[in-house]
Amino acid sequence: MEIQEQVLLAPFTTFGIGGPARWFVEAASEADVVDAVRWARDRAVPLFVLGGGSNLLISDAGFSGLVLRVVLKGIGTFPSDSGMLFRVAAGEDWDEFVSLAVMQNCAGIECLAGIPGTVGGTPVQNVGAYGQEVAETILGVRVMDLETLEFREMTAAECGFAYRSSVFNSTARGQFLVTRVDYRLRPGGEVNLRYADLQKVFTAGSNPGLLEVANAVHHIRQSKGMLLVEGDPDCRSAGSFFKNPVVSAVEFAHLSARLGSAQLGSVPPSYPAGEGLVKLPAAWLIEQAGFPKGFRLGRAGISSRHTLALVNLGGATAADLLVLRDVIVAGVSERFGIALAMEPVMVGF
Ligand code: EPU
Repeated sequence: MEIQEQVLLAPFTTFGIGGPARWFVEAASEADVVDAVRWARDRAVPLFVLGGGSNLLISDAGFSGLVLRVVLKGIGTFPSDSGMLFRVAAGEDWDEFVSLAVMQNCAGIECLAGIPGTVGGTPVQNVGAYGQEVAETILGVRVMDLETLEFREMTAAECGFAYRSSVFNSTARGQFLVTRVDYRLRPGGEVNLRYADLQKVFTAGSNPGLLEVANAVHHIRQSKGMLLVEGDPDCRSAGSFFKNPVVSAVEFAHLSARLGSAQLGSVPPSYPAGEGLVKLPAAWLIEQAGFPKGFRLGRAGISSRHTLALVNLGGATAADLLVLRDVIVAGVSERFGIALAMEPVMVGF
């Protein structure tokens, strides 16, 4: 295990933004993880755990501690009565794992094809897209407790999954490092299409297989600039920059009434989000607040293909992105009285 110094972090992120890590190490085994964490602890140096870098905004000053990049590899498959268990090391590429599962005709993650990042990041923000989220298939997560340096297995219930959230990015933030995730998938691969974009691709009765669904998801993501394609400036992003706000049905009724009566524009689309709650598309709110696709502010902008993705137009700094963020948040707040929350994790601010 080699501890490097002053390693530029921008190349490890999909945004292509971020200053240097004071110290940097790659951990390829659980033993490496223990050594690295102990190294940081002995020196009272702050620790940041880096996976695929696809959901991060790293500051221009970088991170003044140890960045531990998780590169643990290995995928095991174990048949069981309740389905096929896939035991996947945290450093595996997520999309490659999805392809493997699809090739083995195991269902449950095919709609999550084409998402950048590593396996270890998926439970942290409960990755979801096109009608699926990993909470539905995660059986358990193996973690290291950063306090005691001991490993333990957490059940899905202990992970506390909710929309784009888990204990790992809320109540227990910074407490655990994920080394492995166990997914239980359905062999025989029955497809379940819940998302309108996908239902549009497959006409009723067409009975697509998992590979066709995964390919369709790739296509949709690409059309929205949400697939990493070398040289495509629309993908220099962290995916969705804002979460879709969830408001109470009552609040939504007030907002709709106000917008309708003032004839300020149509009422926002909405989706059920559990008991008495609705989810509003942040992309729609942003557009209606006056920020269209392709909007630019200096070297930062809005993707030309999806309003929810803020992009680095080339040479943008984290500060440029934050200026754009603040302008958009203020605009949406003024127009709708809704506070947009950032989705990517901020590091080194
Ligand atoms: N819309 C617009 N303009 C746009 C795009 C979308 O107005 O440019 C509105 C439309 O009303 C559309 C609605 O937003 O019907 C929903 O759009 P879309 O299906 O593209 O999904 P999203 O809500 O913008 C979420 C996730 C994505 C995920 C897609 C597909 C969040 C924050 N984002 O986006 O996840 O891929 O659904 O399931 O929940 C990510 O988290 O980084 C991410 C890319």
